[in-house]
Amino acid sequence: MGSYKFSLIPQKVPLVNTKFRKIKTEIPALESVSILEDLEKYESRSMHGQLPIVWDRAEDFQVFDKYGNCWIDFTSTIFLTNTGHANPMIISALQEKINQKLLHTYTFAHESRAQFLKKLIEITPDFCEKAFLLSAGTEATECAVKLMRMHGQAIKPSKIGIISFQGSMHGRTMGAEMLKGDPGTSAWIGYMDPNMYPLPFPYPWLVKESAVDPYDWAEHFRKDIETLHKKGVNFDDICGFMIESYQGWGAIFYPKAYIQALAIFARGHGILITFDEIQGGFGRSGKLFVYQHYDVEPDLICLGKALSGSLPLSAVMGRRKIMDLPQVGSMSSTHSGNPLCCAAALANLKAIEAGNLIVESERKGKILHHHLNQLKDKYSNYISFILGKGLLAGIISTNPETRKPDGFFASRVCEKCMQKGLLVVHTGREAIKIGPPLTISDEALIEGIEVLDKSFQEVMEEGRK
Ligand SMILES: Cc1ncc(COP(=O)(O)O)c(C=O)c1O
Repeated sequence: MGSYKFSLIPQKVPLVNTKFRKIKTEIPALESVSILEDLEKYESRSMHGQLPIVWDRAEDFQVFDKYGNCWIDFTSTIFLTNTGHANPMIISALQEKINQKLLHTYTFAHESRAQFLKKLIEITPDFCEKAFLLSAGTEATECAVKLMRMHGQAIKPSKIGIISFQGSMHGRTMGAEMLKGDPGTSAWIGYMDPNMYPLPFPYPWLVKESAVDPYDWAEHFRKDIETLHKKGVNFDDICGFMIESYQGWGAIFYPKAYIQALAIFARGHGILITFDEIQGGFGRSGKLFVYQHYDVEPDLICLGKALSGSLPLSAVMGRRKIMDLPQVGSMSSTHSGNPLCCAAALANLKAIEAGNLIVESERKGKILHHHLNQLKDKYSNYISFILGKGLLAGIISTNPETRKPDGFFASRVCEKCMQKGLLVVHTGREAIKIGPPLTISDEALIEGIEVLDKSFQEVMEEGRK
């Protein structure tokens, strides 16, 4: 979450009372401070660094505390509540399941798991013939690594190399952290898997130095991959690509030509492609899955977050012949396909369909990006990029004097938004991320963007206090 620390000292802020937002107290509210302090005292600090409000209730696109304050939510917690907080279809499915008195079965069969899997396979592309259910996203990415390696080893024992991308988020467990290829965040592991090769991410700002227009991203990929070859990597020993479908911290998509060149290369060397759709899946980007923007077909996808829109559920999906590689019992997780999670997830998929939410995300995404690009023009010295697609955006802030990324400015804007009744995703870096529930009304979306505008204005005027 970076070095910026949000103050727990209640601050007087202007009162707000609009159709969608209410700020009636100091922020943080005085009565909430003891709760925040208890968390600081009793919980690992790794969980902290978030905007200091205490959620009491969240419904659709609004978050409420106990003290009369109400925020428009541009976070969907963290791109999870695509169908809206406490979606009524999910709530009633959960109530029904609780009344049925079936809370856990381990890997024993239950009807909700079968119903949910059937629906999931029905609504996903043809290559998704089977799924494996888990709880956390990080389990799903580790599971995909296992499947890609098992698939490679079946071809030849040394085919276990995985190519990933530096800076990508795949979770916090050991394999997932190694995929990220960040010496800082994976230092605790003490070594790097010698068969994991994180490539540099093709950031859009790399083209600034290029005289070629349009920039040849396919060639860029070929050069990056050639660098691996020069380091002695045998491409026939690579079993898979692990690709976060956009780089999470800034909603940074890959150039389409880059991924298409990657796909051609992968097919030429018998290498599987996994897209980690844990953050971007289920309509967030204006398509069911983000990889669909690149016009390629993966072998595996990892799902989580908005898969259930509520309870902990993740999944890996792919063709039968890959999904069935592990022997009976050799890939399982105690909470896999828990009855409550499956009931909630089935209702969630139905809610996506009922609300036509993928189309809605694309439509509202156009409104969002139109307005954000206007902000970029207005604050051109402070905003270097508006990234993302659909109801997903990353606002990349820059310091007007140094032209370097400005995490402090972004954190201040997030704090200011909170004080005005808008929650945005604080990344701790130069990116401010935006991802409202796909159910948000146009009116609330525009009101939220106006708050962002005002917050930019005020933080800019304050300077670096
Ligand atoms: C793209 C991506 N992959 C994997 C994960 C890990 O998911 P989880 O936190 O559920 O383990 C995340 C979490 O933010 C993510 O954004």
